[in-house]
Amino acid sequence: MNVNGQHYRTIWLNADGWAVDIIDQTKFPHQFETVTLRTPGDAAVAIKDMLVRGAPLIGVTAAYGMALAMRQDGSDGALSAAYDLLVKTRPTAINLKWALDEMTRALTPLPAGQRSAAAYVRAAEIAEEDVAINQAIGRHGFSIIEDIARHKKPGETINILTHCNAGWLATVDWGTATAPLYTAHDAGFPIHVWVDETRPRNQGASLTAWELLHHGVAHTVIPDNTGGHLMQHGLVDMAIVGTDRTTAQGDVCNKIGTYLKALAAHDNGVPFYVALPSPTIDFTVLDGVKEIPIEQRGGHEVSHMTGRTEDGRIETVEITPRGSKVANYAFDVTPARYVTGLITERGVIAANRAEIAKAFPERATQ
Ligand code: MRU
Repeated sequence: MNVNGQHYRTIWLNADGWAVDIIDQTKFPHQFETVTLRTPGDAAVAIKDMLVRGAPLIGVTAAYGMALAMRQDGSDGALSAAYDLLVKTRPTAINLKWALDEMTRALTPLPAGQRSAAAYVRAAEIAEEDVAINQAIGRHGFSIIEDIARHKKPGETINILTHCNAGWLATVDWGTATAPLYTAHDAGFPIHVWVDETRPRNQGASLTAWELLHHGVAHTVIPDNTGGHLMQHGLVDMAIVGTDRTTAQGDVCNKIGTYLKALAAHDNGVPFYVALPSPTIDFTVLDGVKEIPIEQRGGHEVSHMTGRTEDGRIETVEITPRGSKVANYAFDVTPARYVTGLITERGVIAANRAEIAKAFPERATQ
């Protein structure tokens, strides 16, 4: 997508042809900085410290991390060491493991001397696939927006709530939950987006708002607790969120607070859609509440906030009393029964085991 008129993706090959450049997302929304990754260790730190984040982008960064490892040493030992290093960087988003498994499958049969070139090819393919998938999600999601408009308020602005950042910054380009929004906007269709700020790391306020602003999409940032009130007053026509892992039965794990939005949507008859690329489906897991590991992050993200002062300095301040304990669960699980539909690259499907398996038979039976 565009940043000040220049087209950017979130990850690309450096001019040297082998290092990997990313946008440092910890600096948003006030600074735009890029960082170069040169080793698998750099890729691991970028994922763990959330310079890159969002399930699909985590996966692509890990794939390139594997390529960086193979450039140094194409041996079996280096392959499994890179896998082990990268797979434990973040526990919840399944695209990480999916991408590493894809890389391992492509590289293992090859002689050591061919693995580096093949790794760059496969990583680039995974990145391109992500873009194509998101564009398809955009088309299918836009049809839902058009349908809702046709039945509910023809010609009027459709208000869509989203949580966290499932935007182009969370993917290679387009985003998942935002792809339908950009597709609608680019088609001249009137939308307005309610952006949950998404405490504690504020991915909504810092990233989604920044993206929408740069693309010219009308939006309003709201404190996380506002969605229910807006829904009660008819100010939300639909919700679209992303997901870090969706189970074979359609339970959806996403940024903490997603579940509460789904409950409020259910109570108010607001359609609640989840946009997901198929690599986010984990066919080995059924009951998301019981089986998905939920990342617990450092308390500093809850007890402190970073922002820009009036005179332009970036400062971090403490917002809780010293001595109070804090907890930082990064994700929650929305049971399938609260999900109106899954917007996938193969169309909009019901969040249940049979429909998901029917849409992705090659993955379901693996
Ligand atoms: O902790 P983050 O910022 O990596 O969490 C990201 C999310 O929860 C997104 O909504 C999810 O990855 C979907 S991204 C297309």
